[in-house]
Amino acid sequence: MSETAIAPGSLLSVEDLSLAEIASILQRASELAAMPHRERAGLLAGRTAALLFYESSTRTRTSFELAAKSLGVTTTLVSDKSSSIEKGESLKDTGLTLRSLGAECIVLRHPASGAPYVLARTTGLPVLNAGDGTHEHPSQALLDLRTMLTHLPGRADDAIHAKTLAGSTVLITGDILHSRVARSNAMLLPRLGARVVLCGPPELLPEDALGLGEGVSIERDFDRALAQADVAMMLRIQRERLVGLELDILAYIAAYQLTEERLAAAKRSRDHELLVMHPGPMIRGLEITDAVADGPRSAIVEQVRHGLEVRRALLLRALSPDFGERIA
Ligand code: CP
Repeated sequence: MSETAIAPGSLLSVEDLSLAEIASILQRASELAAMPHRERAGLLAGRTAALLFYESSTRTRTSFELAAKSLGVTTTLVSDKSSSIEKGESLKDTGLTLRSLGAECIVLRHPASGAPYVLARTTGLPVLNAGDGTHEHPSQALLDLRTMLTHLPGRADDAIHAKTLAGSTVLITGDILHSRVARSNAMLLPRLGARVVLCGPPELLPEDALGLGEGVSIERDFDRALAQADVAMMLRIQRERLVGLELDILAYIAAYQLTEERLAAAKRSRDHELLVMHPGPMIRGLEITDAVADGPRSAIVEQVRHGLEVRRALLLRALSPDFGERIA
C-alpha cells in the first residue's frame, strides 16, 4: 500500500497547530466539560477509536480512553505487551489491521520518535500522538497550557495570541535531553509570549537544547532559575532512557530537587508564589518532595483533569469534520 497524506484532525506535533486552532481546542475543552453528560455522550456515538500503546502509561492512556467514552466513542486498547506486536508484527500492519476492524482514529504512544508520522501516512487515519520517543507529547503541552492559563493572573483560556503569556517565565527542570514534554512545551509556550528557562546538569541538558528556538534559554543554577520563574515544571529522571549515562543521584537531588525551602527562598527573592507542575509520573523524594507535590502551590493533580478535558476536544477534532463550529 502506498503512503497517504496525513489526515485532518491528526495531532503529531504542537507545530501542526496555529494559535487560532489552539484557542479553538481549549474553547471546545471548556464547552465539553460544561455540557450535560447525556448530551456529550451523543456527540460521537457509534464512532470507534483505537488506543495503541507500545509504552506504559497511566495518565495519557486512561484520559484518552475516558475522554473517548464520555463522547460515546467505542474504544479498543492494543498494548505491545498483550498483542501480536509481541510476535513481531510491524507498526504498519498493526495500524492497517485496526483500520480494517473499524478504527476511525488511532491514539499512539511509541518509543520511536516519528512513529506517529509512519502510522498516519500508512493508515490515512487521524492519529493523535500520545508521546513518541524523545520527540513530542503535544496533548501534554496543551493540557499544561490550560493549567497555566487557569492559574497565572490575568489569563483566560479563550484568549490565545502571541502575547497571552507575555511576561511569564516557565522553568522546566530535570531530564530535558530525554523529555518529549519539555520539547513540546518549549516549542509551544514561546509562541504565546512566554520565556522558557531550562535547568539541569549538562548530562541531562546539553547546550544544544537551545536549538529548541527563540524564547528558550538555559540556567544551570536551580535557585537562580526559581527566582525568575512563575511556573516550575519538574521532570522525572527517565531511568529507562539513561542507557550508558552515569548520574550521581544524590548530587542531583542536592542540586535540583524542588523543596519547600527552595520555594520559600524563591518567594523571598521576588515576592511571588510559584505554580508547581509535573507531567507525571513523579518520583517523590527525587525531583520533588512530598511536601511540595502535595502542597498548596501544586497543580499536579489538576493537570490530570485538564488532560481529560483537552483530550476530549482532540478526539472531537479528529472524528468530527465540523469541529470548527461552536457546539454550545
Ligand atoms: N504525563 C504522561 O504522559 O504520563 P503517563 O506516562 O502516565 O501517560
